[in-house]
Amino acid sequence: MDLGPSAIQKFWGFNFIRVGLGIRLVVAEDYEELSRMASQYLADFIRRPRVVLGLATGATPIGTYRELVRMYREGLDFGGVVTFNLDEFALPPDHPASCRRFMEEHLFRWVNIKRENIHFLDGMAEDPRGECERYEEEIRREGGIDLQLLGIGRDGHIALNGPGTPFDSRTRPVSLPDRMRSELARSLGSPDEVPHWGLTVGIATIMEAKEILLLASGEEKAEAVAKALEGPVTPELPASVLQLHPRCTFIVDRACASGFR
Ligand code: PGA
Repeated sequence: MDLGPSAIQKFWGFNFIRVGLGIRLVVAEDYEELSRMASQYLADFIRRPRVVLGLATGATPIGTYRELVRMYREGLDFGGVVTFNLDEFALPPDHPASCRRFMEEHLFRWVNIKRENIHFLDGMAEDPRGECERYEEEIRREGGIDLQLLGIGRDGHIALNGPGTPFDSRTRPVSLPDRMRSELARSLGSPDEVPHWGLTVGIATIMEAKEILLLASGEEKAEAVAKALEGPVTPELPASVLQLHPRCTFIVDRACASGFR
């Protein structure tokens, strides 16, 4: 991929490179700049009278959420924001390693989002399949996701959709392979705290979002990001499906961009 000046265009004041039809790639200098760019991008949606955001957990968006909290203190209003998180582990919502707890600690408790507008999968639901159908239905009832925030795993996973997940998958219970569990453990504490299964939105559900913003930082994600952007579109690298999305932006830092040809 040509990362030279002639490939760079302007997008909301950021330099970006168009990769294929629907994907824009923004290369930030470092994690701090990535977090600032991502928060500005999200803030433009948050300023709308009403917006439905799909949100992600993990180490990568922590800086973005921190910036959003700072912007809230400077007047950014979350009053019109509806959220759906991507996934939840088989844990009670107040468990220290749950996605719900993560979101509370990094964003929700610090801003004026309405509690009734926060949507989560219930990882402890007695009827997990029914719970997943309910979630899909709720997303539809709210009019669909306007902007979906995503991270990416070193194996190319998006949400808890690991390698081999069919592109037509919907929200469902999944067992978490050891490789994904050890990766998740980096942001959750110890591997023992990561359960063996959870609930996740599916790849087809993610692809229905009107717009997607994927964040990736660090050299260890470089190969997955390069394959997602330039490699074959294949369920073996779940994030490669994003090449088929009409409006998708990747913001990566320079260390993560080192994998491009
Ligand atoms: P990370 O996780 O941000 O903690 O690296 C990304 C992911 O697993 O989607």
